[in-house]
Amino acid sequence: MKHDAGAVAAVKARANIAEIVGRYVALRPVGGRLVGPCPFHQETKGSFNVHPDKGFFHCFGCQASGDVIDFYCRINGLEFREGLERLAAEVGVDLGQARRDPRQAERKRVRDDCLAMHELAERYYRHVLGTAEGTAAREYLTRRRVSAEMIERFALGVSPAGWQGLQGVLRSRGFSDDGGVLAGLLSLGKNGRVWDRFRDRLMFPIRDGGGRVVAFGGRTMGDGDPKYLNSAETPIYTKGQHLYGLYEARPHIAKTRRAFLTEGYLDVITLHQFGYGEACGVLGTAMTLEQAKRLAGFSPRVDLVFDGDAPGRKAALRAAQMLLTLGGGCRVVPLPDGEDVDSLLHAKGRDGFEACQARAEDGLTFCLHTVRETYSPKEMAAWAVEFLAGLGDESLRAVFIPRVASGLGLAEIELRGFLASGQGRPRQPAKPASPRSGVLELSSRDAQLLAFAVRCPQYVAALAREGVADILSTGGARDFFAKLAGGGPDELATRLDEAQTAFWVRTQLEPVLSEDEASAFFEEICVFLHEARENDRRRAIMEAIRRAQEQGAHEDALRLLGELQALSGRDDE
Ligand code: UTP
Ligand code: MN
Repeated sequence: MKHDAGAVAAVKARANIAEIVGRYVALRPVGGRLVGPCPFHQETKGSFNVHPDKGFFHCFGCQASGDVIDFYCRINGLEFREGLERLAAEVGVDLGQARRDPRQAERKRVRDDCLAMHELAERYYRHVLGTAEGTAAREYLTRRRVSAEMIERFALGVSPAGWQGLQGVLRSRGFSDDGGVLAGLLSLGKNGRVWDRFRDRLMFPIRDGGGRVVAFGGRTMGDGDPKYLNSAETPIYTKGQHLYGLYEARPHIAKTRRAFLTEGYLDVITLHQFGYGEACGVLGTAMTLEQAKRLAGFSPRVDLVFDGDAPGRKAALRAAQMLLTLGGGCRVVPLPDGEDVDSLLHAKGRDGFEACQARAEDGLTFCLHTVRETYSPKEMAAWAVEFLAGLGDESLRAVFIPRVASGLGLAEIELRGFLASGQGRPRQPAKPASPRSGVLELSSRDAQLLAFAVRCPQYVAALAREGVADILSTGGARDFFAKLAGGGPDELATRLDEAQTAFWVRTQLEPVLSEDEASAFFEEICVFLHEARENDRRRAIMEAIRRAQEQGAHEDALRLLGELQALSGRDDE
């Protein structure tokens, strides 16, 4: 869907890129820009640059670049449209356009209602925790040694045992039972009766990237079944898209540059409680590509803290493989048999967990070692091919092939053979979240001309008059120049696609040309354009001469020869 350029420009004008990036990256001023460690790839030095006055960011290390909307989407793992909408809402821009499509407006209304109901539910469950009805839950939390601070940070609550508590709250706020059922907070029985979906459970709100509650997990405090009841899919919640605690962990991840990924609600909370605020959880199910992208998008390294049993190892293998495939760093922290990190921390404290971390294996080593121990030779080879073929990045593959071969005891040449024949080749995996993709392929001459146009916008009109477009060699280059030449510089960034933006941004970061340098450069280009045009004419005349001679039109050939000499003669002057 096409976005209203006006809306995009309005959001960019309102959203302060330095403030928004500053939520995730420790920026320090350097000259007119801000510099910090890149949240999109693994690094310790500051390759990440923000230009507040120009409204864009750029990383010299991983080439990530774009405007404030691109940053917002990428760091939150959102598609462009969703990111734009959220950012617009945050900075108070009314995206009037959305409302012109009635179906879209309706969908938005449904989503907004679901969010509002979840907010009410969160408040209600928290409130009940403090009342007499919450006594058993408070005792349970004490038994599980969850601190008051964590109860606060994770907004824990309790759903009362009665059947109509939340239903009454929703009704009193004007929400219909149907709405509550659609939001996944109420259940509809066969007899048509409606009641609270969550009853007598400890409630864990699940937040989206913007911190809004989109679902709940509810743990029984006895031996009810299931142990954890989770929200079903709703208009605001798709399973496998969110990570538990990621919203709370994000500022910590930005500081420590790594995340802990674990399996359970209480594992996340206990990690936070013991000072590991960069912890989040996959919530029981196997990690999805969506979750991996979201996490790898802003944590350069992920330390997996999965249960020490067989299913835990299997889940860790899958998660590690996915993170490595996306180009992220990853380690696997082994836990003692029968322990999860919650029980370990309460039993052995930080020291116990640090001892486990000291025995952590690098992600690839863990994968190879696990595959070698648990797979048959045939499965091993298939795994290797799938893993290597799945790597989005050629250079990554070059690094991994020898390690995978030696780690699995396969001959490198044999492995390359399997890969080339495409045996077991899975679907091309997506690269880490990128709202708009594409690479700008430019010849070096086109790149130089376009770079000049970007760096010296005051010459763009003159370049257009001199006919630069005629000598650009590809449609892509001409399209780019047309965008540079058409319209004002203010909305320029909204007209450029991602590849063009990346080029534009990189070029903007080169040192500024003085006016003398710029005009000298422009002169050079004019001379070059003149020569290029003469060369083209010469080539055209020579071609015409060849054709005339073929057809025996000797007079034409002679006349053309005269023209050609006149051209060359002028050159000799
Ligand atoms: P576990 O059974 O290992 O529980 O499930 P846990 O996290 O250690 O929970 P506590 O410590 O007994 O309270 C791991 C995770 O799998 C999901 C939950 O996210 C849980 O935290 N799960 C488990 C469910 O979604 N439903 C279930 O019925 C069980
Ligand atoms: Mn547990």
